[in-house]
Amino acid sequence: MSRSTAVCIAVAAVLLAIAGAEDPYKFFTWNVTYGDIYPLGVRQQGILINGQFPGPDIHSVTNDNLIINVFNNLPEPFLLSWNGVQQRRNSFVDGVYGTTCPIPPGKNYTYILQVKDQIGSFYYYPSLAFHKAAGGFGGIRILSRPRIPVPFDEPAGDFTVLIGDWYKANHTLLRRVLDAGHRLPLPNSILINGRGPGGASFTVEQGKTYRLRISNVGLENSLNFRIQNHKMKLVEVEGTHTVQQTYSSLDVHCGQSYSVLFTADQPGQDYYIVVSSRFTTPILTTTGVLHYTNSAGKVSGPIPGGPTIQVDWSLNQARSIRTNLTASGPRPNPQGSYHYGMINTSRTIILQSSSGQVDGKQRYGINSVSFKPADTPLKLADYFNIGGVFRVGSISDRPTGGGLYQDTSVLGTDFRSYVEIVFENPSDIVLSYHIDGYQFFVVGDRLIYYYCVFKSFQYNVVIIMKYRMDGGQWTQASRNGYNLRDGVARSTIQVYPKSWSAIYVALDNVGMWNVRTEFWSRQYLGEQFYMRVYTNSGSIRDEFPIPKNARLCGRAAGRHTRPL
Ligand SMILES: *[C@@H]1O[C@H](CO)[C@@H](O)[C@H](O)[C@H]1NC(C)=O
Ligand SMILES: *[C@@H]1O[C@H](CO)[C@@H](O)[C@H](O)[C@H]1NC(C)=O
Ligand SMILES: *[C@@H]1O[C@H](CO)[C@@H](O)[C@H](O)[C@H]1NC(C)=O
Ligand SMILES: *[C@@H]1O[C@H](CO)[C@@H](O)[C@H](O)[C@H]1NC(C)=O
Ligand SMILES: *[C@@H]1O[C@H](CO)[C@@H](O)[C@H](O)[C@H]1NC(C)=O
Repeated sequence: MSRSTAVCIAVAAVLLAIAGAEDPYKFFTWNVTYGDIYPLGVRQQGILINGQFPGPDIHSVTNDNLIINVFNNLPEPFLLSWNGVQQRRNSFVDGVYGTTCPIPPGKNYTYILQVKDQIGSFYYYPSLAFHKAAGGFGGIRILSRPRIPVPFDEPAGDFTVLIGDWYKANHTLLRRVLDAGHRLPLPNSILINGRGPGGASFTVEQGKTYRLRISNVGLENSLNFRIQNHKMKLVEVEGTHTVQQTYSSLDVHCGQSYSVLFTADQPGQDYYIVVSSRFTTPILTTTGVLHYTNSAGKVSGPIPGGPTIQVDWSLNQARSIRTNLTASGPRPNPQGSYHYGMINTSRTIILQSSSGQVDGKQRYGINSVSFKPADTPLKLADYFNIGGVFRVGSISDRPTGGGLYQDTSVLGTDFRSYVEIVFENPSDIVLSYHIDGYQFFVVGDRLIYYYCVFKSFQYNVVIIMKYRMDGGQWTQASRNGYNLRDGVARSTIQVYPKSWSAIYVALDNVGMWNVRTEFWSRQYLGEQFYMRVYTNSGSIRDEFPIPKNARLCGRAAGRHTRPL
């Protein structure tokens, strides 16, 4: 046996030991660099992956092992994270500040992930230093295994559609604005797959049906997506097959992903694809082109308008999104065979968005704690028993009503508990929240204020009335209105202005998991914490040991990933 063969076998053995043995491997080598991009016609410094902006898509199948070797050629530390990919039993590779050491400039790190028991549409993004404002994101799709039924016919094409607000200012400047305690101004525009107004194009054949996987990878703005003269059928939300309802436009809040089908059933020409900002004045709009191969002409006619500014239009649309209980998910059994509404919760956690000044600077937080990074990733401190990095219980599971302060907030929870989480948003903007490592069930929401809009076309007047809802505040009685039957299971939930949203989640994934708002400037300024899902079992059936190739930094530097 040659030396290289021996090395190959040794490497394969290591990989097999870490990941699920029989499942296929997919290998990626990614080179992360700064490079010039011109999404809005002016030169900007973007974060490229293998020269691309947005980065390449990851195509995978349920249970695939993804081996992603990331070379950081930026002059600063860098990390990628995987929005919606659960990293089961393996929060070490989640790629956020609290779990994984940054990749130093000029170095590489190989993520070893498994897309265990998942299907659906997700995305990856750079998690540190407001890098997300410069690119470095891309689509992730997890297809069903060949023998698992999918509740719709295979589409003729499957497109990733990454939409997001965009600034001409670079991420370092935006960070400086935030560090100085100011809000970001309205963005300059919206991008569709890295292109500004008129830039993105999708080619279709008349009569065929296509899938779009739409993710909002932007920083702050809820976006509405629509296609001129075409209806969309919603089929999947962050890994759940939905009841297939038809929409003429769809609200996608920050961090969320949706799959829709549409049929190219119109006369052969080009049509507008429109993405516009929600709840902003003015409304920002970017169009792309849906091009028929037999097109007889360019886009024409007025750009189709979006929904009005009423919040309850959006809320009613979100409520109409349901799980198809008879369809399969990642496994052959129907999604409805897990009766999430019949299980008693053992704990209620209420998380309220907080805003305030700390040391004279604007900060944000949850339950009055604004997250402050420590000198060592929390997961590593936990693994190596390094004291003084964080304290479990440094954030309350109820709003405290106290003033905002900074801490390295970690909420302690028990492995295998079944909990109710209520997100409360007292602010006047839409916030969305994401929990790493999990898919949760959306059970309810409520506006505390109700907006009533009267429009008279005859007299051309619009009257908007706002009044407080009786019982709008979340109380135990709010549970009577929960959807305990076919709420959708997802990983990012929107919470409307002056509203709450409630979820149920089975804490079946041990680890240190980031809970954050996807409203990125607030995430950057502390509106996040870590949820430690803990067991003392020490069994690898509950949690994998630290990956052998884990980088060790801070006070974990010099430790060993395996006993000597
Ligand atoms: C990454 O890209 C940079 C710039 O193009 C190049 O200098 C470098 O050699 C590349 N590294 C790898 C590992 O491909
Ligand atoms: C860096 O890349 C090399 C291959 O070029 C690989 O052998 C090595 O394991 C990688 N390092 C890490 C820490 O993943
Ligand atoms: C970012 O923008 C600021 C202000 O326009 C500029 O001074 C700086 O050189 C830019 N940085 C990069 C890396 O382009
Ligand atoms: C639900 O999924 C089943 C496949 O199990 C499919 O036949 C049915 O059309 C779907 N129903 C709706 C309303 O989407
Ligand atoms: C849930 O709690 C109720 C009331 O305490 C109890 O009657 C019921 O048996 C419990 N159900 C389960 C599945 O434990």
